Amino acid sequence: MATSPRTRIVSTGMYVPSRVVTNKDLEKIMDTTDEWIQQRSGIKERRWVTDTDTTLNMGVTAARQALDRAKLKADDIDLIIFGGLVTDYVFPGTGVLLQRELGFSSPVPALDIRNQCSGFVYAISLADAWIRSGQYKRILIVGSEVHSTSLDISTRGRDISVLFGDGAGAAIVEACDEKSAHIIDSVLHSEGKYAEALTLAKPSSNDHPRLALEKPNDLSIYPKMDGKLVFKNAITRMVEVIHEILGRNNMTPKDLDFVIAHQANMRINQMVLNQLEIPFEKTHHTLDRYGNTTMATIPITFDEAVLLGKVKRGQTVVFVAFGAGFTWGANLLKF
Ligand code: UT7
Repeated sequence: MATSPRTRIVSTGMYVPSRVVTNKDLEKIMDTTDEWIQQRSGIKERRWVTDTDTTLNMGVTAARQALDRAKLKADDIDLIIFGGLVTDYVFPGTGVLLQRELGFSSPVPALDIRNQCSGFVYAISLADAWIRSGQYKRILIVGSEVHSTSLDISTRGRDISVLFGDGAGAAIVEACDEKSAHIIDSVLHSEGKYAEALTLAKPSSNDHPRLALEKPNDLSIYPKMDGKLVFKNAITRMVEVIHEILGRNNMTPKDLDFVIAHQANMRINQMVLNQLEIPFEKTHHTLDRYGNTTMATIPITFDEAVLLGKVKRGQTVVFVAFGAGFTWGANLLKF
C-alpha cells in the first residue's frame, strides 16, 4: 500500500534592494551611533527600497530565482503561499499579483498569510500539511517585506527604524517519498495578549474615514515596539519551541546539524543558542547586512547558508522564529 507523501525543500531564492544604508548613514539622519546599533543588535547595514522596488516585484525576483534553480516553470507549481506586512494593495493580497506576474496558465490558488516574523515557519507548516494530505504536490512560498517606507526615520523612531530592512525570500517545496530527506514536524504558537507590544496601528478599520488625513501628526502611522518585552519573550519562546519540537521527535539539541533562526537581534540568537548549548558554528546570520526583514529572514539566511555550503543535503535543521503578535514556531527537517 502506498504511504502518504512527505515534503522536501527543493530550492530557495532571495532578493534584496541595491540601496545599502549603513549605520553611518543613519548617524547623519538621527541621534544614533554605529557602535550603539552594532552592540545592541549586531546590525551593520540594511537594504532599503529604491523607487522601483515593491513588495510584489521583490517577491517575484526571489520566486523566479527559486524556480530557475529548481529548473521549474510557474506551471509546475500548484499553490502559492505569500506573506508580507506592507502590501502593494490593501486588497487584493499580493499572492494573486505574484501569480499574474509569474505567468501561470492555469488559475492556481494564491493564499496570503500575515504572521509577521514567524510567517515563513507558519507557511512551511501549512505547505507540509497540504502536501501530506495529497491535495497539492508543489508549493511556492514567498515572503516579501518593505519596511523602510513605514518607518519613522528620525531620532523619535530610532529604536525601531535602525533594526528593519527590506527584502524577499522564496522556497519551493514538493511531495517526496518518506525515505527521502523531508520536513519532519512543525510547531506553531501565538499569544495575542501581546499584540500591542509590536504593532503598526494605522491605517486602521477603527478610523472613520479609515485614512484620517485630518490627523497629519498621528504617530500611529509608524510601528511601535516594547523592545525589552519582545526581546525577553523572543529568547524564552524560541528556546521553548525548539525543546518542544525536538522532544516530541525524541531528539535533543545535540541531534541538530544546523539552526536557522529569525534575524531580529544577534544577542537574542546568541542567548538562544547558549541556552540550548548549540555551538555558534551551527548557525548562519544575515542580520549584520540585511537587518530584520521579518518573514524573509529565514529563507534569505537559509538560501545563503546553503550556497556557502554551511548547510548540506541530508542534515538535520531547525527553522525557528518569533515575532509580532506574538507569534512563534519551529520547523524540524532533514534537508
Ligand atoms: O522580529 C521580532 C521583533 N523584534 C525584536 O525581536 C527586537 C527585540 N528588542 C531588541 O532587539 C532590543 O530591545 C532593542 C535593540 C530594540 C533595544 O535594545 P535594548 O538593550 O533593550 O535598549 P533599550 O531599549 O534599553 O534602550 C537603551 C537606550 C535608551 O536610552 P535611555 O532611556 O537609556 O537614555 C534608548 O532611548 O538606548 C536608546 N536608544 C538608542 N540610542 C541610540 C534606543 N534606540 C537607539 C538608537 N541609537 N537607535
